[in-house]
Amino acid sequence: MTEAKMTDQVARAFSGRRVLVTGGAGFVGGALVRRLADAAARVTVLDDLFTGRSEVVPTSVQLVVGSVVDEAVVRDLVADASVVFHMAARNIIASTKDPREDFATNIGGTLNVLLAARDSKVDRVVYTGSTSIYGNPRSIPINEDDPPVALSPYAVSKLGGELYCNAFYENYGVPVSVVRYSNVFGVGQRPDNPYCGVIAKFFAAAIDGKPLQIHGDGEQTRDYTYIDDAVDATLLAAIRPRAEGEVFNVGTGIETSVNDLAAKIGRAVGVDVDIVHIDRRDIDNIRRRVVNIEKARRMLRWSPQVTLSTGLERTAAWMRSSTFDAAEPNATPAALTPS
Ligand SMILES: NC(=O)c1ccc[n+]([C@@H]2O[C@H](COP(=O)([O-])OP(=O)(O)OC[C@H]3O[C@@H](n4cnc5c(N)ncnc54)[C@H](O)[C@@H]3O)[C@@H](O)[C@H]2O)c1
Repeated sequence: MTEAKMTDQVARAFSGRRVLVTGGAGFVGGALVRRLADAAARVTVLDDLFTGRSEVVPTSVQLVVGSVVDEAVVRDLVADASVVFHMAARNIIASTKDPREDFATNIGGTLNVLLAARDSKVDRVVYTGSTSIYGNPRSIPINEDDPPVALSPYAVSKLGGELYCNAFYENYGVPVSVVRYSNVFGVGQRPDNPYCGVIAKFFAAAIDGKPLQIHGDGEQTRDYTYIDDAVDATLLAAIRPRAEGEVFNVGTGIETSVNDLAAKIGRAVGVDVDIVHIDRRDIDNIRRRVVNIEKARRMLRWSPQVTLSTGLERTAAWMRSSTFDAAEPNATPAALTPS
């Protein structure tokens, strides 16, 4: 679909509608909120600013600083919305450090959203799942109905959220769609967020002329999705009638090793990068990941528009023209964050 056609569809679907975005001050949420605001939707964001930043939320959007763990707040906001994008979540690193907080947010927060949606007249809830639930797959590319093997507390909680979505669809008819993202990257992903993924950290190092640190041998692979493509798929999951009760992989179908990624980032920045291999971390326990996106192509009529190289070039231009806070002293070094 052309960009103009997509913009038109989004405007027709969302203009004047009340939309709630939990986690809307985050990386993906912020990009989604800007698209919805451009489409003249009446958007409210619920975000506790754990990793989110208030400045990514446009001034036309109401920002409620609060937690999805707060059942009363969630109930009030969902009651006012006709579409809910539920993106608030503790990320994999925070989750590994504190699985109980992850459980409260990623599972408890999702349950709060679904209970509120069940008791109100929401037209659609879109839940942002994660391809981390596939663990080390038996075969690739991974299909949506391949068995999940959750290898981290984060994968457990993201899968738990999905399972609740499915149960609420089956038992109460809550109109839910799930998008399972695969390593989203791009403009807006800040390297000064200690939890950001590998791409933002590699960029920061390459621009500063520092070596790129790779955990393990660098032959682990992922399927990297450009932010605008992830946002398009998410919007279409809310728009398409047939998406109700369905789960969609959101990726590219292309497998890239971390070593290749590092070389591509060097090219996008225009420098020869030094690569240092350091110890593998516990959270880097997934060797290969690439997803089958045929279902999203067919049912959402979506396909990724931005190649990895183009996405990296856009990201490089944005990183160069932006200023970031100094990295936190305890920030995790460049890493393959398998979210
Ligand atoms: N970025 C990826 O590669 C990726 C991959 C798979 C899945 N996802 C999912 O997509 C969603 C968005 O991820 P992102 O990359 O934008 O991460 P992010 O950390 O930038 O955004 C998450 C947002 O949720 C907010 N949040 C966290 N706990 C909250 C709480 N208790 N109440 C309210 N808000 C809370 C954070 O402050 C942040 O603004 C998440 O659900 C994540 O699990 C992302």
